[in-house]
Amino acid sequence: MQNTRRDFLLRSAALSAALSLPVSRVLAQPRFDRNPFVLGVASGYPQPEAVVLWTRLAPDPLHGGGMPEAPVAVHWEIAADVRFRKIIDRGEAIATPQFAHAVHVQARGLAPAHWYWYRFMAGDAVSAVGRTRTAPAVDDARGRIAFAIASCQHYEHGHYAAYRDMAQQELDFVVHVGDYIYEGSWGRRDKVREHHTTEPYTLADYRNRYAQYKLDPHLQAAHAACPWLVTWDDHEVDNDYAGDRSQDMDPVDVFLQRRAAAYQAYYEHMPLPPGTWTGGPDMKIYGTHAMGNIARIQLLDMRQYRDYHVCPRQNRKAGGNQVNVLDCPERTQPGRSLLGATQEQWLENALAQSPARWNVIAQTTLMAQADRGIAEERVVYTDGWDGYPAAREKLLRYIAARKIRNPVVLGGDVHFAMAGNLKTDFDDERSPVVASEFVTTSISSLGPARARIEALLAKNPHVKFANGARRGYAKFTVTPRRWETSFRAVVNVADDQSRVYEMANYVIEDRRPGPQRDKS
Ligand SMILES: [Fe+2]
Repeated sequence: MQNTRRDFLLRSAALSAALSLPVSRVLAQPRFDRNPFVLGVASGYPQPEAVVLWTRLAPDPLHGGGMPEAPVAVHWEIAADVRFRKIIDRGEAIATPQFAHAVHVQARGLAPAHWYWYRFMAGDAVSAVGRTRTAPAVDDARGRIAFAIASCQHYEHGHYAAYRDMAQQELDFVVHVGDYIYEGSWGRRDKVREHHTTEPYTLADYRNRYAQYKLDPHLQAAHAACPWLVTWDDHEVDNDYAGDRSQDMDPVDVFLQRRAAAYQAYYEHMPLPPGTWTGGPDMKIYGTHAMGNIARIQLLDMRQYRDYHVCPRQNRKAGGNQVNVLDCPERTQPGRSLLGATQEQWLENALAQSPARWNVIAQTTLMAQADRGIAEERVVYTDGWDGYPAAREKLLRYIAARKIRNPVVLGGDVHFAMAGNLKTDFDDERSPVVASEFVTTSISSLGPARARIEALLAKNPHVKFANGARRGYAKFTVTPRRWETSFRAVVNVADDQSRVYEMANYVIEDRRPGPQRDKS
């Protein structure tokens, strides 16, 4: 995009200084009439000696950001103490209009498993202080890690009391497994709050949508409390998309333009490593994250590389569906892939090479077979692993054959909390438990009807716990011998000060797959 000097003059109202500078010159000492750091700060992707720091300059966040079409210098620093007396690393980043004046920097020279504090400065504006933590040393096998997973935070469906609670939990990190924003409105007639724009299609639209979500103080608090790892599901782009296919079967080039805009805006608002988005509709976000030798997290991308859905709804051209399994034999075709061949191969290698005590697969949705039929008939949901059963069986057979140590699958998407057993044959009671599964309920998105959960529990004996009545998140405390899961539940999602309590807890003992009710 070419920026004229006239555009620059018109758009620089928020920045009263430096009007005489040429557009290409970096504004080193900008003056702001309004706080440019209202979207908060975040950190992510912790390594033993490094962590990513994020912010975005946006004095007018809901209307494009309010920044001039010029690069701006942003200073950052990270310290071993909250008063910034012992600075460990600092630097200058250039926030550019091409990236919505977002800043992604890698802080280095840190010590493993330590807390740090960081902040940003632009002109005379100073950001809030964020806290972050490095990963344990690579060979650390003794420690204890605590982390949470979150997913599905529809803005209109509720407040983020779950994040208020999460920020108080002394977590080492958070994993977000998708639906960070929602592109559409659905489900709740009595909206708790409202999207301020219509469905996003362009880069500008998606930026404004992210800005609205990120203005939430509890979400900001959870980001400022510890580093995050993130992956996306469908709603960061469009409901039920699959690779280059939208649910409305838009022309591929049109949809890929939209996907590029959505992916860029995702990068601009997440604490992803610098350079994760390199332009265009592709962006690699799956990868391995080591937490010493205690846990290794394989974080998956379930959208970009998947095969198209089979058996779409009658009134739609594509996308997921609830199908009677007898009406959709295409579903079980061998070779249908949810991850794509490259990611599948990478995942198998990563699992086989892991020295970790606990091998976490963090992905977006429920992995266990889930017959959701209220009556006798077997009904499954094709947008999740039940739409790709051959790929699921292949992965679980691989985990069993390679004797992967303590595999734990984590997911979200379904808006109910779940603990269960993963098996290579869910229909055979004698089939051994291969891995454990925990699914978090939604942060705020509307849950399923009670009858659905009752049917799920009645018809799927490998599902040990399911609750769709509460919003919340799942917290894990992991030591070499024991994995503890605490399902945290929000009493009233319409109240941002709602009480949050533990609705269930489960444990896994080393080398004994399958969640057990915690009796300790
Ligand atoms: Fe969702």
